[in-house]
Parts: sequence; C-alpha cells; structure tokens
Amino acid sequence: MAETLILGIESSCDETAAAVVAGGRRVLSNIIASQVDLHKKYGGVVPEIASRKHLEAVLPVIKEGLSAAGVTLADVDAIAVTHGPGLVGTLLVGLSAAKALAYATDKPLIGVNHLHGHIAANFLADEPPEFPLVCLVVSGGHTDLIYMTGHGQMELLGRTRDDAAGEAFDKAARSVGLGYPGGPQVERLAAFGDPEAVPLPQARTEAPYDFSFSGLKTAVLQYAQKKGPLADQQRADLAASFQRAVTGVLADKTLKAARAMGVRQVIMAGGVAANGALRRAMGETLAPHGIRLGFPPPVLCTDNAAMIAAAGHYLYEAGVRSNLDLNAIPALGLL
Ligand code: KG4
Ligand code: ZN
Repeated sequence: MAETLILGIESSCDETAAAVVAGGRRVLSNIIASQVDLHKKYGGVVPEIASRKHLEAVLPVIKEGLSAAGVTLADVDAIAVTHGPGLVGTLLVGLSAAKALAYATDKPLIGVNHLHGHIAANFLADEPPEFPLVCLVVSGGHTDLIYMTGHGQMELLGRTRDDAAGEAFDKAARSVGLGYPGGPQVERLAAFGDPEAVPLPQARTEAPYDFSFSGLKTAVLQYAQKKGPLADQQRADLAASFQRAVTGVLADKTLKAARAMGVRQVIMAGGVAANGALRRAMGETLAPHGIRLGFPPPVLCTDNAAMIAAAGHYLYEAGVRSNLDLNAIPALGLL
C-alpha cells in the first residue's frame, strides 16, 4: 500500500509554510516564506501586516510545496492545518486556504494544534524517539515539561509561571541591543562571551518542574542599564551568562522530571530547541544517566509546515477529521 501523503499548512505567526510528508516520516517538501525582514524594523511581529503578507503568500507557497514534493493536490490523502495557538488573523489565512482546498477536492481536513506540531517534528527522523518520554517544549509562547505515552497522549508536569524561554531570549536580546528575533542573535553573540562573567540569579521556583524567567530577564536589563553603554565584550559576556542561566535550569529540571517518571528518552520541541548551547547542556546533563536526547534539526524546530503534516499524519491514522466549520483558536492550550 502506498504511503499516506499529508499536505501541511502553517500560518500561526510570521511564517507562511506548506509541506508534504509521506508516511509521517519522510519530508518530501518543506517550503517556508519568512516575514522576519518585514517585522524587524518594528521590533516584533505586527499582526495586521503579518495577515496581509500571509494572504499574498499562502497560495504560491502551497503550490510550491506540492510541486517541490513532485505531487499534485489529487495525490494527497488529507490536508492538515494549524488552527491554534497563534495570531487570530494569520491563523485564519492558512485555515481558510486549507478549508477551500479540502472542500474543492473533497479531501479530509485535519485541524492541528501548533504545539503538537512542534512535538511531532521529533518523529521526522531516521531513528524516531521511543515512548514513554519526557518532552521539553520551549517556544516563543510556551515552556512546558510533559510526559508522553503516545502521540497525543500527554500529561503536563510543569510549565513557566511567567515568561516563556523564547520570550526571555527575545527580551534579553533587546537589553543587549539586539533586534528581533532575539534568540538566534543572542546565541551568535554568546559564542564570543564568557558564561561565568556576569553573576545572574538562577531561575528557581518551588514547584519541581515549573520555571520562572522574569527575574532573570529583569536582572539582565538592570545589569545592562547600570553598566551601560556596554562594550562589545561586555555584551557578549552578558549574553553568554544569560544563555547559561536559561539552559542550565531547563536541563536540570528536565533531568529531574525524566528521572521521576523513569523514562529513558527525552525530546525537545519549539524554536528555542534550535539553540546549540541548550542542546549541549541537555545532552551533557542527560547522558550520564543513560537517557537518550532527541531534537529536530534547526529548520524543523522553528515554525514550519512539515511538523504540522507530521502531527496531522498521526491524527489521520487515528481517524480524526475536522469539519469545515473548524475555527481558529488563538489561545489553544497544549492539552
Ligand atoms: O517555536 P517558534 O518558532 O514559534 C512559536 O511557536 O513561538 O519559537 C520562536 C522563539 C522565539 O522566541 C525565538 O527567539 C526563539 O524561539 N529561538 C531561539 C533560537 N531560535 C529561535 N532562541 C534561542 N536560540 C535560538 N537559536
Ligand atoms: Zn512555533
């Protein structure tokens, strides 16, 4: 029997993306039209501009996604689309396109939770992770530790009490004079800095698997203001010290959760999982305990549609189908 082909469509923030995934594993195409350059000068995503750009890009990106995969719409088994969480205006663009295509071709429509997509990106690998596992979700809006026994079967162990890890990276970036999006720029600058140079508060919380990053964010801002204007080396040192503080607490708490749940597999999901220092810290923390660490390649960590197609694949196999009245849910939760 031929492999199931899923067309994925993603438009929750500032990337218009379309991808075709075969058998839930093989990425046949992964087209991403980023709007980053457009929003840079505003220091963040401007929702109205984003919606308008998605509208221009969505059909060409879908067409390219299909042609790069060497398939036509008639070949796909289902159309999977992000319906939340995200910006309502941008979500509606991808969702409306997916509905129109599903209606016109009489193909099943499958609404996908964007966060489940980030997690599913881990299974687009030659050696997919094994359940049960603990997953650290670290994106622009989320920092969650979850226990998973199967696709879509998850239990929340802990989460951030205030800022998400990605948000903390973006705000720290601003404090050291870097623009949007902050995460990758902080990582590049931190490579030239000494992570021991600036004493910063460890982001501790009482609850064993919860996080808090707002104190750390404030400490970075206060240091920058007190010592400013910072020389290049001081900026790099501050970025490196901040990155060490964030990655350290993420790795420590993930290990604690993995040991408490008795799992031998940990995975990471979301934009911050692209961070090399976090990947190293997690690997070094987990390896001595015989716990395997998985993470997607960087391009599948940040927003893309291959992950939406992958999550859609598992829903398709489970018989899940959405109706054409499927709505965008900006605050859709992980569970
Ligand atoms: O998952 P994502 O692309 O979008 C959301 O669903 O939120 O995550 C975006 C977040 C941003 O805060 C961005 O600064 C952060 O991920 N990020 C990084 C890196 N690449 C993206 N943070 C640290 N290091 C990176 N290399
Ligand atoms: Zn995302």
